[in-house]
Amino acid sequence: MLARFASRRFFASYEMITSEKLDNVGLITLNRPKALNSLCAQLIDELTTCLSEYDSDPSVKAMVLTGSKKAFAAGADIKEMSVKDNVTTYKENFITSWDKIAQTRKPLIAAVNGYALGGGCEVAMMCDIILAGDKAQFGQPEIKLGTIPGAGGTQRLVRAIGKSRAMELVLTGDFISAEEACQKGLVSRIVPEDKLVDEAIEVAKKIASFSSPVVMMAKECVNEAFESSLRSGLLFERRLFHSTFGFKDRKEGMEAFLNRRNPEFKDE
Ligand code: CAA
Repeated sequence: MLARFASRRFFASYEMITSEKLDNVGLITLNRPKALNSLCAQLIDELTTCLSEYDSDPSVKAMVLTGSKKAFAAGADIKEMSVKDNVTTYKENFITSWDKIAQTRKPLIAAVNGYALGGGCEVAMMCDIILAGDKAQFGQPEIKLGTIPGAGGTQRLVRAIGKSRAMELVLTGDFISAEEACQKGLVSRIVPEDKLVDEAIEVAKKIASFSSPVVMMAKECVNEAFESSLRSGLLFERRLFHSTFGFKDRKEGMEAFLNRRNPEFKDE
């Protein structure tokens, strides 16, 4: 697996994630198997640091985030949360640092095998595309712990699958299969478990073959659809569309098409 990549570089400084560069794709693997990749402060700190490094590394053009076969992530760390009260959560602005995942500028693909529960489902939804392994399970079971989703679950799930379906998941804490998640529109498609990470890397490599700044603009525009009215979203899109005409890559892409050749993008 992953052998076909010409350049492969590992980074060893993390304890709870692994990260490696496969040509121009950054692959991050959550690696806290004893706690099913539950998202403790250290893991989130390592993840957001690594994403920020990839975001500012011009040789990386897209990222893939995955976990293990058993769990993408089983939620926020319940042991860590169990001793907190509302004074500490407010004072430390608990889990607000997770927002950095959604603020990543380059495309981020979640490759979800196994459980994506609570904060795990929320982190997957912070990514730009979710590909699911055929045995993946999704859910927002916080209600069973006497709490509610706190990292965007009630908001992003509604936008992804609609109010009634999101309400049922949030209020019952039930899990849904990869197949249901695909039918409901939470994930873009299902891939056999063993092929999932390779497939996510292929998608990332395809995206990475395009002009990086233009890809980032396209991502910004799609995300704007979640955060604004149709009117202001359309205006935002139009302005960024106009601004792509300032890029040499846009000129190159159109000229290449007209001259029946492959484009050579230079990220300019
Ligand atoms: N936090 C901390 N530890 C966790 C964990 C979590 N979210 N999920 C699993 N673990 C730990 C278990 O405590 C267990 O540790 P020990 O072996 O030391 O006892 C280990 O991982 C394996 O878990 P299980 O024995 O429970 O494994 P299982 O196969 O029987 O069940 C599971 C798997 C259904 C995912 C079950 O572990 C589970 O329900 N986990 C909790 C899921 C959950 O409620 N997530 C939401 C958390 S709240 C949240 O995320 C808030 C938010 O919005 C940010």
